[in-house]
Amino acid sequence: MDSILVRGGRPLSGRIAIAGSKNACLTLMPAALLTDEPLTLTNAPRLADIRTMAVLLESLGCEVASLQDGRVLVVGTEHISNHRADYDIVRKMRASILVLGPMLARDGAAVVSLPGGCAIGARPVDLHLEALAALGAELDLRDGYVHARAPRGLHGARFTFPLVSVGATENALMAATLARGTTVLENAACEPEIADLVRCLRRMGARIEGEGTGTLVIEGVDRLHGTTHPVIPDRIELGTYMLAPAIAGGSVELTGGSRALVAAFTEKLEATGVTVEDTEDGLRVTRPEGRLRPVDVVTAPHPGFPTDLQAQMMALLTLADGTSQLEERIFENRFMHAPELMRMGARIEVHGGTATVTGVEELRGAPVMATDLRASVSLILAGLAAKGETRVARVYHLDRGYERLEAKLSSCGAAIERMTRDGGAPGQAPAEQVEGQ
Ligand code: UD1
Repeated sequence: MDSILVRGGRPLSGRIAIAGSKNACLTLMPAALLTDEPLTLTNAPRLADIRTMAVLLESLGCEVASLQDGRVLVVGTEHISNHRADYDIVRKMRASILVLGPMLARDGAAVVSLPGGCAIGARPVDLHLEALAALGAELDLRDGYVHARAPRGLHGARFTFPLVSVGATENALMAATLARGTTVLENAACEPEIADLVRCLRRMGARIEGEGTGTLVIEGVDRLHGTTHPVIPDRIELGTYMLAPAIAGGSVELTGGSRALVAAFTEKLEATGVTVEDTEDGLRVTRPEGRLRPVDVVTAPHPGFPTDLQAQMMALLTLADGTSQLEERIFENRFMHAPELMRMGARIEVHGGTATVTGVEELRGAPVMATDLRASVSLILAGLAAKGETRVARVYHLDRGYERLEAKLSSCGAAIERMTRDGGAPGQAPAEQVEGQ
């Protein structure tokens, strides 16, 4: 199994190009099921999760062509030969549940495996199902599968999410585009990936208002058509690489992203003393001399501080001059990186959903274990600042969400390399792996 070796203590300098958003692409691909014409996605990221979604769509009868070295995906959905999303694929990636709404809206039938357990919390899909039931879906949970039917088609409805869910909002939004009448989704998620999905659905002919707010109003149409849509930049990859010079020292320009995508995160980063400047192509992040200031962070749905940057921010705060508190409000078990960071000399105490981080003067390299996607990259970031060598095992988590991570960081002067053992394909997850984001 692969591991990544980082030799810390080198300041970074250079440019890193930000790829297209993994999470946006994972909802745009199943949106293709809403039409029988091809959907072309440009600026697609080249990641294991995207390949998993392609395999899932192909298992339903879609054709997924990967052009320009994977940067462009064309999803052809003319022939849907199978309405069953199998456990073997769904268990690898929770976002697989996003085929449910579109398939149901298009053909009135879908069978999708329940995603099952997951490393960062229970993560049920009850809200996806409640929203689809409000639109008229008949649902039956049997044998670990959701059996969904809408023999007379879906109808518009008013539905208020009891808590904000990105995936449930996406599923309901996609289904509502082909439902009869008007749907109003309240307390909807307003993450940039949802706004991107709305833009794509509009290009496909959908009638939607309210993206970026908590209320989405969807006027159902009879049919949608194919289009070409550019995937937005990945704000989590952007935030992660903004933290690289912040923790290792130096100055790096991130091209292709913007401050607006990471506003709440940038505010906290600047509060530590790190400088963030807007440039023509993106953002430049520069670490000042001396130690950084501690800050308190509370994760929240957008526009709050993203849970997907909590682990990486914790890595930075382990070296701040004072005590920081990180409160995780989205997922109940998302501090698995804390014990690994402690193996590198960090001082962290976790009580329930709050981690108290007392900054230390230095971290020391150690062998550590990745537990989920964002936890694993937090260990890489810590390794960039640590004295000596850090070896991060189980890096298949990283390959789900970061394309060419070693190449991007080493182009800025980091000493980082992938070690491949036992002849397995680089980045391949073991079969029993359950998805963590
Ligand atoms: C998406 C992102 C993930 C990110 C998360 C929160 C994708 C592919 N993944 O995940 O990277 O960390 O948003 O920003 O876009 N919940 C329920 N019932 C449900 C659905 C969710 O109780 O039916 C709970 C979850 O357990 C969690 C909270 O709602 O505590 C938010 O989860 P949600 O926004 O749905 O996350 P995902 O869409 O799975």
